[in-house]
Amino acid sequence: MGDSLKVLGIETSCDETAAAVVDDTGAILGEVVRSQYDDHAPFGGIVPEIAARAHLETVDAIVAEAMRRAGTGFDEIDAVAATGGPGLIGGVIVGVMTAKAIAAARNIPFIAVNHLEAHALTARMTASMAAPMTAQKTGGLEFPYLVLLVSGGHTQLLIAENIGKFRRLGTTIDDAVGEAFDKSAKMMGLDYPGGPAVERLAREGDRNRFALPRPMKGRPGCDFSFSGLKTAVRHAVEGLGAAGPGERDLADLCASFQAAASEALIDRTRNAIEMFQESCGARIREKGVLVVGGGVAANSALRAALETLCEETGMRFVAPAQKLCTDNGAMIAWAGLERLRLGLTDGLDFAPRPRWPLDPDAPRRAFAGAKA
Ligand code: KG4
Ligand code: ZN
Repeated sequence: MGDSLKVLGIETSCDETAAAVVDDTGAILGEVVRSQYDDHAPFGGIVPEIAARAHLETVDAIVAEAMRRAGTGFDEIDAVAATGGPGLIGGVIVGVMTAKAIAAARNIPFIAVNHLEAHALTARMTASMAAPMTAQKTGGLEFPYLVLLVSGGHTQLLIAENIGKFRRLGTTIDDAVGEAFDKSAKMMGLDYPGGPAVERLAREGDRNRFALPRPMKGRPGCDFSFSGLKTAVRHAVEGLGAAGPGERDLADLCASFQAAASEALIDRTRNAIEMFQESCGARIREKGVLVVGGGVAANSALRAALETLCEETGMRFVAPAQKLCTDNGAMIAWAGLERLRLGLTDGLDFAPRPRWPLDPDAPRRAFAGAKA
């Protein structure tokens, strides 16, 4: 291993085939993200078999292109990391097999990365880039910090204690917030994926026109629920009559939904901040840091609301660039690099894990995290 570490990361757990090379300053040397939107759009959502096949057909070319963009040969790579779960198993198998093959052929370590951990650590990659050289080796963002993880399959509040060590404060008891965005969008006749489409239309809409619920708001604890909100959207769409929503209705409905979803997230996060400050107060500088990650963290309205919440509670707010919130290879490479630094590599007998909770001690929820 040279002085500066370089890790290749491969992501195939959902509907993006992605690869990137990252170094230990947090710099992304080369990356490619191929979204399968066109493959799944006709079905209005992800079809696991189509996803697995598309990953299989493209992963080699995506890895080669990321390496070309990075200007690195395989002999300069210190380890290869792939998402080992949780996620759609067919896709995870493709990424893991590809990474293992490279590791075996090049005689370098293979690292199985927990996709959720990668989302939670991305902020350390961007903080590392911004930190002075002396702080880079440890990452510019120190543990413990609070994480709001919001994606297509997960909605969780976690305390990041260390690499591989998370304490879950709350999770969804039914749907993930990204799923609520996607399903609500589908009911409104919008294209998949719903999140970006809802955000775009919401900009022109009136957020007060439809009175939608803020599930769990005001209750103690940090758990989430989004199925009631989804049902309320369905009733609102039905209430608009057989002709369906017009342009104005769509914008207003998107704005009302986005406001309700953000407000629900903010309410639960406020409780989590209190719990975090109480339990970690002695170990954090000032009031601590809130990190947001996962695809829904690309949403500008949510980011603005979280920013305000942090101002109110004295927290420092860290949100990675939007393209690093949605699935990408750099986050996998970085999480792999963090593990490599600690000697946490995996054997070639690692078995892909469709379920892989970050906090194994947290109570299992019936539906939460059932899909990618
Ligand atoms: O993290 P991610 O890319 O994949 C998973 O690990 O699930 O998250 C995908 C989710 C989808 O539900 C998508 O609709 C949502 O993130 N999303 C957004 C936005 N961009 C992506 N939701 C709201 N606003 C956005 N701008
Ligand atoms: Zn993700």
